[in-house]
Formats: sequence, C-alpha cells, structure tokens
Amino acid sequence: MDKWLKKDLEFIWHPYTQMKDCRDFPPVLIERANGIKLYDDKGRFYYDTISSWWCNVHGHNHPRIKEAIKRQMDSLEHVLFAGFTHKPAILLAERLISISPKGLTKVFFSDDGSTSVEVALKMSFQYWQNNGIRAKTKFVSLDSGYHGDTFGTMSVSGVDLFNKVFSPLFFRSYKIPSPYCYRCPMGKKRDSCGIDCVEPLSELLKGRSREIAGIILEPLVMAAAGMIIYPKEYLMKVAALARKHNVHLIVDEVATGFGRTGKMFACEIAGIKPDFMCLSKGITSGYLPLGVTLTTDKVYKAFYADYKENKTFYHGHTYTANPICCSAALATLKIFEEEKTLEKARKIMPLFAAGLERFRQLPSVGDVRHIGLIGAIELVKDKRTKKSFNFKERIGLKIYREGLKRNLILRPLGSIIYLFPPLCVKKDEIEDILNRTYAVIKDI
Ligand SMILES: Cc1ncc(COP(=O)(O)O)c(C=O)c1O
Repeated sequence: MDKWLKKDLEFIWHPYTQMKDCRDFPPVLIERANGIKLYDDKGRFYYDTISSWWCNVHGHNHPRIKEAIKRQMDSLEHVLFAGFTHKPAILLAERLISISPKGLTKVFFSDDGSTSVEVALKMSFQYWQNNGIRAKTKFVSLDSGYHGDTFGTMSVSGVDLFNKVFSPLFFRSYKIPSPYCYRCPMGKKRDSCGIDCVEPLSELLKGRSREIAGIILEPLVMAAAGMIIYPKEYLMKVAALARKHNVHLIVDEVATGFGRTGKMFACEIAGIKPDFMCLSKGITSGYLPLGVTLTTDKVYKAFYADYKENKTFYHGHTYTANPICCSAALATLKIFEEEKTLEKARKIMPLFAAGLERFRQLPSVGDVRHIGLIGAIELVKDKRTKKSFNFKERIGLKIYREGLKRNLILRPLGSIIYLFPPLCVKKDEIEDILNRTYAVIKDI
C-alpha cells in the first residue's frame, strides 16, 4: 500500500466509514481539483458527481473565490462575533436577506448544516418560552428526514441506519410519514392522490398543537433519505397547516439551497414563507464551513428585551461568522449573478432529466426522480413488487467501487444512486457522467 495511505489508516478515523473496509479498499488520495473534476496523486481524474457532499456549486479551484479568500486573509482572519463585527458578515447578511423568501429579515451565523438547524430548533423553542407559552416544547419531523449529526438534529431526524443506536438519548419529537411517492405511505398513486399523506400531520396538529413548537422538514428533496423528491403541494399544505395551528415552520435548505432545484431556494418553488430557514453547504460553494439561520422580525423581537428579563439567545460558536468564510460566501453569491449560474444550469436541467429517464428501462431500476440538478435512481430486486436490496448485500459499496473504476464518485444511499453535480457542470460533462453511470448500473 502507498505510504500516504498507510499513514492515513494509521492515524485517521474517517466519517461515515467502516474503517475495516479500508484495509482492502483504502480512501482515494486526492491531490488537486479543477472545475467538476478531482485528481488523485497519480493524475487520474474523478467526476465530482456529488459536489463533494453536496456543497460545491461553482466548481473547484474557482479563481474568484480563491481571490476573495486570499484578499480577506490579508486584512482579518478571525475575530470573536460577540461585541465585534466586520464588513464581510454585514454584507453577507444583507445579501442573504435580499435573496431569501420575504419575511426572513435576521441572520444568525454558525458553522455548518447541523449547527444551523440546532440554532433554529433552539430559537423556536425559546421563542415560545420567552412569550410565556411554556407548553410548546415539541417538534414534528418527517420519519425519514435528515438534519445533521448532533443530538438535537438527530432527535428530529429519522434515518435509522445512522441514528438508531443513539435514540435513547434523543429528546422526544413527533414523527409523521414521509411523502415518498414511489413508496406512498398511504398506498396511493401520485397522479390520482390528493396529497393524502399530509393527513397525519393535520390530525396531529388538531389534537396537539398546544404542545408543538415547530415543524421541521427538508423542502422538496429529502436528501439523505435517498433524494426523495416530493410534490410542492405537500410543502404548501404543511406551510398552511403550520400557520393555521400557530406552530413554526422550519425549512432545512442545507442541501437544497443555492440553486440545486433550479431556484435559489427550494421553498421558492412552493411559494411558502417559513419562520426559519437553515443554510450551509453551497453557501461558500463548498470552499469553507459556514452555517446560517434566517428568521423573522417576530422571532427576533421575542428575544429583544431588557437584560434582566433573561430572554437572550445564549448560543454561539468560536468560529461563528468567520470573516474568511463570509468572504467566500459573498464571492459565491456574486458569481451567481455575474456568471449567470442559475440561467446556465437551467439550460442543462432538461438534458439531465431526459438522460435520467433513460435509466428506467434497466431491469433493476424501480424509480427515477429528478428536480433541477438533483437526480436519483432507485434500484430494486423486483420492479413489480418494488422489493429493495437488503442493506447487508452492500449493493451501494459495489456501485461505489465500480463507479471509481469509471471515474465517477458515486456514493449511493443504500440502493439509491444519485447525481448531485456542481451547478457549473457543462453539457458534455453531464452526458459523459450519465453514460458512465448507466454503464455502472448495467454491469452490476
Ligand atoms: C438537509 C441537511 N441538513 C443538515 C445537514 C447537516 O449538515 P452538516 O453535515 O454540515 O452538519 C445535512 C448534511 O448532509 C443535510 O443534508
């Protein structure tokens, strides 16, 4: 084994990895990257088909993001964010508010996706406490949603494979069925259903809204659950129910934000106005870690009080609003405008959708779903019964390894293969990625 990989395995414990697997199949040593390609130490390239865990937007090695980072390094690398502020954070907050759904007027910074969600949960909870409505202490979430790996976010997540072992430590929350059209929890078909899967939420709120602080969900795409894409009407109904029953609506746009669905934010497609919006990943185009929670004036005012009233939001992280991260985010947003990223990506989207539809004809493909530049192919043992592969068969691992041979980074979620390329992907690149992915599935 290569000396670097030997050292890696000696000293490092990788995330979401069974380290024993690495003895026969060590991690890939990446040395550089450009555009949507990563290169290993031998110069072999890999398409970054999953945007380096769903965060790269404008491609690797983008000169303007690099320049922004370097420029910021020359003036200020970091300062604590309580009692001090800086221009990159101020400009970024202003810019984010200007592109976010109406009503979101305040920005709270943190470090990553999980912390942006923790902040929303804590703010929502404390909002009701500060207003003297003490019974509102619980959250509702989708039974296969994913919001991060901290205890708060795991408590409102539902991917059992990741979380079950920790479940005795979670706070209690209500789970509702996920709007998974291919495996409809109500046994209906999308073309004839009336979004009946929202009924359990409606019933829950009728009976228990007095103890519910908020509903949290990923808008339109339940990413870690297997890129489950659900109808905008579901999101609209959830938003209307939240409003009607006086509970907060928290949208977790950590994966869907920054253009992935064809709009800057997925909740724009449903035209909803959330009380909280959580952002991270694409905010810096994947260059540096940053989390943001946007909320309303109404929430902000519930904390704005005389010090003695003890309504302060006591939450913060050391690197909150780091100036270099904020500068990378500002450059990211500027590139959206100046390079017309969304307009260009929207031209690729129909080609991406049509290319994915071709996969339906493969015998092991049960479902194909796509929105914007997010696409998923669900493999099944039997198309008619929709019988899934058993987790222990490790079909995902086989696909991952086969993908690498064909210069693709495919990291299936169970037996769901997905593509989540950077928005800067070009027509010929997406065609090549689709052809290579097709060949991987056909061979397996
Ligand atoms: C929707 C969603 N929320 C939250 C997170 C957690 O983000 P992070 O890994 O940056 O903590 C993720 C990560 O994949 C996510 O997809």
